[in-house]
Amino acid sequence: MNRLMQDHRKRFGDFEVIEFVDDQEIARLRAKTDVAAPLTLNWSWEYGSEVEELRNLYEKGKVNQWNAERDLDWSMPVSKDDWVLSTEASMLAQVCKLMGRDEATQKAAAFDELAHLLSQLLHGEQAALQICGQLTNACATMDEKWYAASQVADEARHIEAISKFLSRKLGTIYPINPTLKILLDELLQAETARKKTLGMQTLFEGMAVGIFDLLRSESKNALLTEMIRRVEQDESRHAAFGVLTMRRVVREADAEEMAEMEDWAFRILEALNANQQLDMLRLLGPKYGIDAENITKATLVMPNWAELNSMPYMHTVVPNLRNLGLITERTEDRYRELGMIYDRGSRRQQSPELAIG
Ligand SMILES: [Fe+2]
Ligand SMILES: [Fe+2]
Repeated sequence: MNRLMQDHRKRFGDFEVIEFVDDQEIARLRAKTDVAAPLTLNWSWEYGSEVEELRNLYEKGKVNQWNAERDLDWSMPVSKDDWVLSTEASMLAQVCKLMGRDEATQKAAAFDELAHLLSQLLHGEQAALQICGQLTNACATMDEKWYAASQVADEARHIEAISKFLSRKLGTIYPINPTLKILLDELLQAETARKKTLGMQTLFEGMAVGIFDLLRSESKNALLTEMIRRVEQDESRHAAFGVLTMRRVVREADAEEMAEMEDWAFRILEALNANQQLDMLRLLGPKYGIDAENITKATLVMPNWAELNSMPYMHTVVPNLRNLGLITERTEDRYRELGMIYDRGSRRQQSPELAIG
């Protein structure tokens, strides 16, 4: 199978990473803001409900709306002098600790890493807004259109909340990682409504729920915790839409279409995993005297690497893909070899029912 970003691959021991080292190329990727996305729009003349479970989700969305300006207490402080994340949740803080740097430096590193991670989630939220707007056009039934329209409003609110948190409280918004830009463009340019739903709603929303949930459990800041709690409530509705829609898609798909979806899901997630925080470490590492490649090589040979690395995958996206029949014996071992599936000790793994909340 042809892997994404083949020109940026490099072997670190047994593991193949994706690494961007040319700053001009990175700048060009970020400057590419016009993306041609194919779209076939669908009219529907049936205004009554055809898919009851989606109508229910739409109703649930209506009563659970919130206001990012009014419902969060923006007077709550966020400071570099306090721990914003537990040390365990910040790779930079952990490395600073191992290097014998003082606690103030470790706290500052955790603060910077949080700003970087939230910035990437923010860019992902923008992609969700864009693709969901496409779905209002591409999907076939009125229930799907109504639901997708309500999700567009949710995603706008997430962009509002996270961008305000970054600019008001953390003081910066970091630019998008090159690997993430390429992957989001790949999803936004998917040709069919089926692929758009699989890509954004199952893969990216599934990853987002996993990352937000881990972030909330490691947060040491009350405003951050509350903002994520509210965003997550919406995100679980979005992941539910992905699962419900994909269940109908896989029921109707033949073996060839199933294999194509399974390969595409693997291709996207494999590339996401292959970056291994290198984009973040190259950007922030030098400030703390950290060498990105050395740290990544050391991380990859840690005895518990696969257990830790698999956590955001095992949280929601892997259970959901398994449940849909989109991880079979064809790809299961490859996910395992790459540290994305880890069966023993994955305590955070949820059942698919729980995962769609
Ligand atoms: Fe969102
Ligand atoms: Fe979402």
